[in-house]
Amino acid sequence: MKFSVSGRAAAVCAASTLSAVMLLTNGSTAGAAPAGAPSTAAAAPDISVANVKAHLAQLQSIATANGGNRAHGSTGYKASLDYVKAKLDAAGFTTTVQQFTSSGRTGYNLVADWPGGDANRVLMVGSHLDSVSAGPGINDNGSGSAAILETALAVSRAGYQPAKHLRFAWWGAEELGMVGSRSYVNGLSSANRSKISGYLNFDMIGSPNPGYFVYDDDPTIQNTFQDYFTGLGVSTEPETEGDGRSDHAPFKNAGVPVGGLFSGADYIKTTAQATKWGGTSGRAFDACYHSSCDKTTNISDTALDRNGDAIAYAVWKLSA
Ligand code: TRP
Ligand code: CA
Ligand code: ZN
Repeated sequence: MKFSVSGRAAAVCAASTLSAVMLLTNGSTAGAAPAGAPSTAAAAPDISVANVKAHLAQLQSIATANGGNRAHGSTGYKASLDYVKAKLDAAGFTTTVQQFTSSGRTGYNLVADWPGGDANRVLMVGSHLDSVSAGPGINDNGSGSAAILETALAVSRAGYQPAKHLRFAWWGAEELGMVGSRSYVNGLSSANRSKISGYLNFDMIGSPNPGYFVYDDDPTIQNTFQDYFTGLGVSTEPETEGDGRSDHAPFKNAGVPVGGLFSGADYIKTTAQATKWGGTSGRAFDACYHSSCDKTTNISDTALDRNGDAIAYAVWKLSA
């Protein structure tokens, strides 16, 4: 079964409406093994770091053309959202733009559903798309935004038909206190909330002096990421400090199993960490965190490549 790539009109919710839109297209099991046959899970694709970097270059251009940032309430934010949405629409996703208001300015979440899969078991993948006003936000969080965009496009290219329903989200106003993701979760009925079997968060995954941190939360999700890095021969550390610091927090607070990856912000890399991961001890993982120098040069291609591939691995594994 092939999906049409003709443009899908996006539903734009009224400003006051934040209820989740459940998009139930069909209960088709196209591509599934016949009853009784052993089910063979499709292998996750390699995510092209060149493609991820091409999205980052676009986000940088958008910031440059809009006063140097992509912050909540700015033209640079809206242009970033329009860029991501156009790619997803062309790839056959059903996109929804949700509006909210924070600090007197309109913010937006972009939600993209991949048609098919079990609507009662939804795997969600999200990243915040806003930057701080100080700079273009290429590592924070163009990196997560671009990597999940490329993962979504890989789902489309593969014609992947997982058992679970896949939903990707780009959150607004994370930098103002996870406003967009919180409004999304608050707008879900308890029935719809309980259908989300997992939420994977990616906020800063290309830090220039990187660490490899796996959120220490849901054990199944954590083990899935750890297995991937073990296979690469890269050691990881558990990320515990992040519990309240990114968009997985509202999901976790609502009882949804969460996990994610993080390559480090303004904390200093220790000598032990530099020994196992390379890079420079005594320096921040991201010395340009929340600064004007968080631009396309502020990325480790190796970290972006490894983390992008780990995202695809986990999305395939956890949705099969
Ligand atoms: N959420 C922070 C930001 O966007 C970044 C951050 C700091 C973070 N510590 C974290 C993200 C731990 C995930 C986990 O500025
Ligand atoms: Ca790759
Ligand atoms: Zn961030």
